[in-house]
Amino acid sequence: MELDKFSGNERTKYCGEFSMKDVGERATVYGWIQRNRDLGSLIFIDLRDRTGIVQLAFDEGTKRDIFDKAFSLRAESVVAASGVVRERSSKNPELKTGDIEIAVDDLKILSVAQTPPFEVLDDCNAKEELRLKYRYLDLRRPVLQKNLLLRHKVTKATRDFFDSEGFIELETPTLIKSTPEGARDYLVPSRLHEGSFYALPQSPQIYKQLLMVSGFDKYMQIARCYRDEDLRADRQPEFTQVDVEMSFVDVEDVLGVGERYMAYVFEKVLGEKIDLPLPRMTYTYAMENYGSDKPDTRFDMKITDVSSIVKDCGFSVFSSAVQNGGSVRAIVAKNGAEILTRKEIDKLTEYVKGIGAKGLAFIRYFEDEPSASFRKFLSDDEWAQIMETLGIEKGDVAFFAADKNKVVLPVLGALRLTVAEKLDIIPKDKRNLLWITEFPFFEYNEETGGWDAMHHPFTSPLDECVQYLKTAPEKVFAKAYDLVLNGVELSSGSIRITRPDLQKQMFDALGLSDEEAHRKFGFLTDAFRFGAPPHGGFGIGLDRLCMLMAGAESIRDVIAFPKVQNASELLSGAPTTVDAKQLQELGIAVIEKE
Ligand code: AMO
Ligand code: AMP
Repeated sequence: MELDKFSGNERTKYCGEFSMKDVGERATVYGWIQRNRDLGSLIFIDLRDRTGIVQLAFDEGTKRDIFDKAFSLRAESVVAASGVVRERSSKNPELKTGDIEIAVDDLKILSVAQTPPFEVLDDCNAKEELRLKYRYLDLRRPVLQKNLLLRHKVTKATRDFFDSEGFIELETPTLIKSTPEGARDYLVPSRLHEGSFYALPQSPQIYKQLLMVSGFDKYMQIARCYRDEDLRADRQPEFTQVDVEMSFVDVEDVLGVGERYMAYVFEKVLGEKIDLPLPRMTYTYAMENYGSDKPDTRFDMKITDVSSIVKDCGFSVFSSAVQNGGSVRAIVAKNGAEILTRKEIDKLTEYVKGIGAKGLAFIRYFEDEPSASFRKFLSDDEWAQIMETLGIEKGDVAFFAADKNKVVLPVLGALRLTVAEKLDIIPKDKRNLLWITEFPFFEYNEETGGWDAMHHPFTSPLDECVQYLKTAPEKVFAKAYDLVLNGVELSSGSIRITRPDLQKQMFDALGLSDEEAHRKFGFLTDAFRFGAPPHGGFGIGLDRLCMLMAGAESIRDVIAFPKVQNASELLSGAPTTVDAKQLQELGIAVIEKE
């Protein structure tokens, strides 16, 4: 088919912007053909651009050659159409522009599309893999256009907010020395320094701290971060952070900025009001009650400790767990007995075993009597106390986990979410934003028998905990805080250590020798010797924020060209092998892993 010439933009407006006000006006529109309906003497074309759809009409009044052109057009071809806007004889209330159509008298074919591998529709049922291979077509779907437009608005609002609060946007390098942020680095070989590698930043952490030493006072960046870690629905190997650092601040100052930012973005982009100050919960409270450091507080079903009731009971699964220093805890699925049948409970048991539990005990109160396999091992008094403490009523199911706290809490936390999904009790329209504060400083490593930093090693301990750094690591809590929205960790941050003596204690506690600490972090700790202001900040996962604001299921839906589970990008095929010549220049040989 012959293509028409295009000689410059004459668009009147976007397809989705027409209304009854335009009736009688001439208009030129550009777009992709969504649908071509041929009714013999009439042809209707739905023309799509990023704003929506407008109907193009061709009838007996249309010149023959234009009519024939319209007839020949198939989905996804690109056209320019001109004509007069008129009121439709049969209106379509489903469509924003459904009151009008354009009676086309000039039609230019600008590109002819092959039959696409899937139909460009929001409810297209093509597999995600196919859609990602043809991501440029996938991105034409209105839902993705909307998501990425929202992302633009969030980014814009972010820059506006931080600018209005006196922050300076600065860029930091992406070819850097490897800095630890907990995940594996992506490495980039150096041609000029054969055998040496840059790392891609897991975050701009060290550079933003250096910018504080340089006196910039308030920094922000919409920063790309790279982490070679296992992917999930809310994790990508490259992702974006709203990265923030400020000088002469303590925890309250930083939380204040963080929550004003949240309120600003939600108001600007979605018109939603968020009440400040945001609720706060300590890490310990969150773990004990929700079994998670990112609790979804949109529903209740908190965890209850029943250890003191069952510590000496005849059910050895329970009593031995308590006697071995662990605990027995429970959650109650109110009115869950009908949906949580024995079969469902078996499935849940398999599920919790898959995440580390040894088993799952339960009470199901469905018929006249509550039933539990362990009932016969408990005295009447113990049983009555359990029923009363947990407030179990007819219709409820209670689940019990017995083990070390390290197992019991996360298992019940995960079960709580799964059960809530099954019972469909999570109010989807709620936005529960909260701060989690006072994270533990160290994490015990059973393999090495030592203590690992739970955050990067520049995170400051709470003032009152400094005394325990050497003697009782488990008693040390950090000036670290996470922002959680509906059970998703949106942001992490902390006040940093700037005092050399404290930094040394910290490295000592982590078992880092002076030499090792200097080799790894010397360029930051050296800088602190030349005048470092107290400082702190946070990094907000922009992809996650956009995902939640868009109501999307995965961060892939708010990223133009995301990667899949195995970290490849299906459209381009990255990662790929490279020419032998390229490897040679880098002095790199690829060997087979054993
Ligand atoms: P952290 O490592 O917690 O902190 O990261 C901050 C936030 O970034 C988001 N995030 C991710 N999003 C998508 N894919 C990933 N793989 C991924 N990893 C993290 C999360 C997370 O809360 N430098 C510190 C911040 C600081 O202390 O200032 C940091 O990077 O939403
Ligand atoms: P068992 O004695 O292993 O046959 O377990 C008896 C019941 O207790 C079964 O319903 C198990 O699923 C449950 N159970 C076993 N281990 C645990 C545990 N650690 N926590 C909670 N329930 C358990």
